[in-house]
Amino acid sequence: MWTKESIPDQTGKTVIVTGANTGVGYETALALYEAGAHVVLACRDTDKAEGACTRISALLGKGKIEIGILDLSDLDLVTQFADTFLQAHTKLHVLINNAGVMNTGIAAPVAAKTAQGYEAQFGVNFLGHFALTGRLYPLLKATPGARIVTLSSMAYLRGAIDFDNLRSENSYDGSREYAQSKLADILLSVELHRRITAIGDPVLSIAAQPGANRTELLRHMSGEELAAAITRVGQLMDPWQGALPSLYAAVSDDARGGNLYEPHDGGYRGYPTLATLKENALDEAAGKKLWDWAEEVTGVRYP
Ligand SMILES: NC(=O)c1ccc[n+]([C@@H]2O[C@H](COP(=O)([O-])OP(=O)(O)OC[C@H]3O[C@@H](n4cnc5c(N)ncnc54)[C@H](OP(=O)(O)O)[C@@H]3O)[C@@H](O)[C@H]2O)c1
Repeated sequence: MWTKESIPDQTGKTVIVTGANTGVGYETALALYEAGAHVVLACRDTDKAEGACTRISALLGKGKIEIGILDLSDLDLVTQFADTFLQAHTKLHVLINNAGVMNTGIAAPVAAKTAQGYEAQFGVNFLGHFALTGRLYPLLKATPGARIVTLSSMAYLRGAIDFDNLRSENSYDGSREYAQSKLADILLSVELHRRITAIGDPVLSIAAQPGANRTELLRHMSGEELAAAITRVGQLMDPWQGALPSLYAAVSDDARGGNLYEPHDGGYRGYPTLATLKENALDEAAGKKLWDWAEEVTGVRYP
């Protein structure tokens, strides 16, 4: 069983965790800080980021904590965050693309949009992270042993990329669009692994999914919708446990590029294990098409 206690000493490592002020991201940042890493909490809300920073620092771990303001719903702000980070840092060992929104449920009946007009879940969960990863890639490549961990979800299994509707102009279904965004995250992770391997860069691209956790991700669901979700997937875990697949991908010597790690019990609960990727995640044509499209619209080309 791989637990938080399995994390090796992270002293000397610099890590960015997006969406680190709450939920799975907070627990991921906390565990890495306790293990000695210099952790950058990349958050969109300054007050929430400072609150998380205070809570983590109070635990007097071995590491260091820093705040970076990052709003993934605006590609210009993604560039601003990356530029600020690159000016201040000479290494980046791990980038954890954790932040996410789930605009499903009755509280979010219409499509929210990013600054560039993309459907919010696709724009934040996938496109913002695609651009962020590309902007930071040169530093990752220059840092020995660097890894990129991208979070997906069991929802990817029912996802499909609708290239004709990425701004939700034709139709909108929050749940369908969430699944699309989480499939896009897996395609990003696997396609990046393919591209890195092809050119021989010493960087690992690994996917993780946290299973079913009680976090603020559920904030747009009504009580009834939440109850229905629990009936479907079973009891929710506490987010410290949901953070373990991300942590495993970020630090374990056994984690491999191109893989997905998830909780062992059906993907919903338990301790990290290697997942079997389904066909839609391994679709090379879809991965290439999405990658080429994302490079085109963001203007960020890598690896
Ligand atoms: N919870 C689950 O059961 C579950 C299941 C499968 C996958 N996941 C995935 O796990 C990851 C973490 O989710 P969670 O459950 O911990 O959710 P959460 O508690 O809602 O945390 C999400 C984090 O993402 C941040 N975020 C949202 N929009 C952002 C933006 N535009 N720019 C920057 N940060 C933004 C949030 O910031 P604010 O606090 O300011 O909103 C928050 O820090 C997500 O990728 C999610 O899809 C979760």
